Amino acid sequence: MPEAKLIDGKAIAEALRREIATGAARFAARTGRPAGLAVVLVGDDPASQVYVKSKGRQTIETGMRSIQHRLPAETSQLELMGLIERLNKDEAVDGILVQLPLPPGLDSGAVIEAIDPAKDVDGFHPVNAGRLMTGAPSLVPCTPLGCVLLAKSVSPSLKGLEAVVVGRSNIVGKPVAQLLLAEDCTVTIAHSRTRDLPGVVRRADLVVAAVGRPEMVRGDWIKPGAIVIDVGINRIASGDGKGRLVGDVAFEEARAVVGAITPVPGGVGPMTIACLLRNTLDAASRRAGLA
Ligand code: GUN
Repeated sequence: MPEAKLIDGKAIAEALRREIATGAARFAARTGRPAGLAVVLVGDDPASQVYVKSKGRQTIETGMRSIQHRLPAETSQLELMGLIERLNKDEAVDGILVQLPLPPGLDSGAVIEAIDPAKDVDGFHPVNAGRLMTGAPSLVPCTPLGCVLLAKSVSPSLKGLEAVVVGRSNIVGKPVAQLLLAEDCTVTIAHSRTRDLPGVVRRADLVVAAVGRPEMVRGDWIKPGAIVIDVGINRIASGDGKGRLVGDVAFEEARAVVGAITPVPGGVGPMTIACLLRNTLDAASRRAGLA
């Protein structure tokens, strides 16, 4: 058995960011302004603060403009909707992202629906979800897009592959299934209630694990040679009391059988922000009539 290939999400994301930086410079030269990404953070969730900071830094590093709005947890729905309305109208803003989860009491569905679909760089608006389903050009959710790019980094054509997506969330499971269908995979969406989940996963040439349960997918569930994309980021207890990050796949077990696998951390995670920057540049180019 040849050694399993590790899919280096960090390196692939870096290459993607360099490509986006070139495109962002061209956009600025042609339009006389940088592409702009507005990120809205409500409340003080520590993980969200870290993500939002990274998004801002990487936006600037790529040569785009970062606009950040940090609002207190007590912000009302009306105030938040007012801000979205202003960002929708602001010509210098090409992409709008509202960091989730929102504090209790705020209706995230209504906020997402208020975002102009042309600026919805998360791809969460029902119009973009519908366009993805019907195969029309759309802004595609970032993590699913990252998963597909990682799978294609080891298998440039995914045509005809049996793909099993474990997880059915609106943010990852459902959109990644649609993207794989568009790549001509035969797609199964499995989940925690699937009967004989190990048997279903064993059919897969490509497994996308996005259930949010630490190390749930075991090595003996995986067909030898399969490509495994692990979306999970779970912190579990470790001897030193700090905890350690693991994916939804039992990595060491899987590594012995797979053809290629993404590590956690360093696999899907770094791709998400890179894909957000790509969506921002795409949205900017379309809005400026350049794409
Ligand atoms: N929180 C965790 N992941 C995401 C994401 O992809 N987009 C937004 N808006 N919030 C998130």
